[in-house]
Amino acid sequence: MQTAHRSIVVLTGAGISAESGLATFRDKDGLWEGHRVEDVACPEAFARDPARVQRFYNLRRAGLQTVEPNAAHLALARLQRDYPGEVTLLTQNVDDLHERAGSQGVIHMHGELLKVFCGRCGWKRGWQGDLTGSDPCPSCERTHTLRPDIVWFGEIPYRMDEIEDVLMRAEVFAAIGTSGHVYPAAGFVSLARFHGAATIEINAQGTQVSGQFDRHLVGPATVEVARWVEECLG
Ligand code: OAD
Repeated sequence: MQTAHRSIVVLTGAGISAESGLATFRDKDGLWEGHRVEDVACPEAFARDPARVQRFYNLRRAGLQTVEPNAAHLALARLQRDYPGEVTLLTQNVDDLHERAGSQGVIHMHGELLKVFCGRCGWKRGWQGDLTGSDPCPSCERTHTLRPDIVWFGEIPYRMDEIEDVLMRAEVFAAIGTSGHVYPAAGFVSLARFHGAATIEINAQGTQVSGQFDRHLVGPATVEVARWVEECLG
């Protein structure tokens, strides 16, 4: 049966939060310019030097509490609220700016900065302050086992079955502010497209996967996402 309103799947990356003041990873002055992934964003780094890894994420967690959602986050929340069809929001971002803007059911495939879990017993919950090696796990009481709830390189992103399912059903797929360097997210456009979705990339510049999209809006997310949402609702 043909429905009047198409299901929309949106994937966001660090670029959507850039105008809120959070550094992206690969732009000039991006996070990976000042740090090596192997030192702060993989399980081996945490095993080797947990204090260094905790410091890196403690700074990010503190920084997150000083920024606000921007017009692009707000526009996507409005799209979810006002669009008569299904709108699913997938994000590679570990910030909570989509939620603070009012989005619902955001799928955080790379985890969430404001959560921690115990690598030994699996206990997980929200966490606002710094994390040090001496915090005991409230469940199993071991120390040196709590870690940020971040999917590190070499680990499997969360909720992939659910994500595949929504991508295969998507009629519109939009990727916003992501460079297309990191898989599996960089492959979502080809999966959605293979299953018949119209695809759109919204980014400040072209990316290495731009050629796979049907349509491009090039410019700052605060302007281009707001414009695209108006069009979807119009
Ligand atoms: P990147 O830093 O790789 O890419 C950010 C993208 O945002 C680039 O394509 C920029 O052109 C674009 N951009 C920057 N400012 C923008 C703006 N104001 N408006 C629109 N676009 C803008 O970030 P991601 O693609 O999100 O993973 O990176 C993917 C993953 O790599 C991250 O989730 C993280 C990282 O390593 C983990 O840590 C597991």
